[in-house]
Amino acid sequence: MDVIRVKNDVEGGKKAFELIKAGMENDIKVLGLATGSTPETLYQEMTGSNLDFSALTSVNLDEYVGLDGSDEQSYRYFMNDRLFNQKPFKETFVPNGKAQDLEAECKRYDQVIADHPIDIQILGIGRNGHIGFNEPGTSFDVTTHVVELTESTIEANKRYFDKVEDVPTHALSMGIGSIMQSKKIVLMAYGESKADAIKGMLDGPVTEELPASVLQNHPNVTVIIDEAAASKL
Ligand code: F6R
Repeated sequence: MDVIRVKNDVEGGKKAFELIKAGMENDIKVLGLATGSTPETLYQEMTGSNLDFSALTSVNLDEYVGLDGSDEQSYRYFMNDRLFNQKPFKETFVPNGKAQDLEAECKRYDQVIADHPIDIQILGIGRNGHIGFNEPGTSFDVTTHVVELTESTIEANKRYFDKVEDVPTHALSMGIGSIMQSKKIVLMAYGESKADAIKGMLDGPVTEELPASVLQNHPNVTVIIDEAAASKL
């Protein structure tokens, strides 16, 4: 894995943006996108740029079960608010957390991914090493699936909700198998709370106990980290 160390998330966002820009010069068609605080500076770079994304399709990693796109805590709302409203894409896909039949929604989303092979996948990483909402113990082979969120993930994400009881307990997530099919992966991590996960991902064994460690098996990964996230290397 190619590791780029940056001063902070602002510089990290600029580096990730440069990679997307270079991809666009090479005619990429599909971006895999993430939510959470990590990619925010990247999305600021994108919205502040004069680039036109209207020829690109985006496929997001995940969505909470039970939240509608109009719900401010939903990942669909986040993406519209941070990126798509300012910079229209050709098409944008996020799993439907309100689907009546969640298993059918997973199959539908797998088809979306199959029809739109991801050129560059943007990732953050959880404190426990999750990518997407693939929590420790998830098989490396899974495709889109329903996930029960771990306590540590619910704790980490409660900052977006009024109270911890409001954080959904389940999510739909693109699987590790699909993430690994992306042609290129750019993972960003900032802050000390990510230092153990980054150490395990880069230096530890490849194990389902630390989902991001699977990226050691991918031929084209760039990791962008600040000093705090790199502090245990
Ligand atoms: C978000 C996602 C998650 C986050 C991870 C880190 O779509 O898939 O894996 O990337 O939980 O979240 P932040 O960036 O908020 O620290």
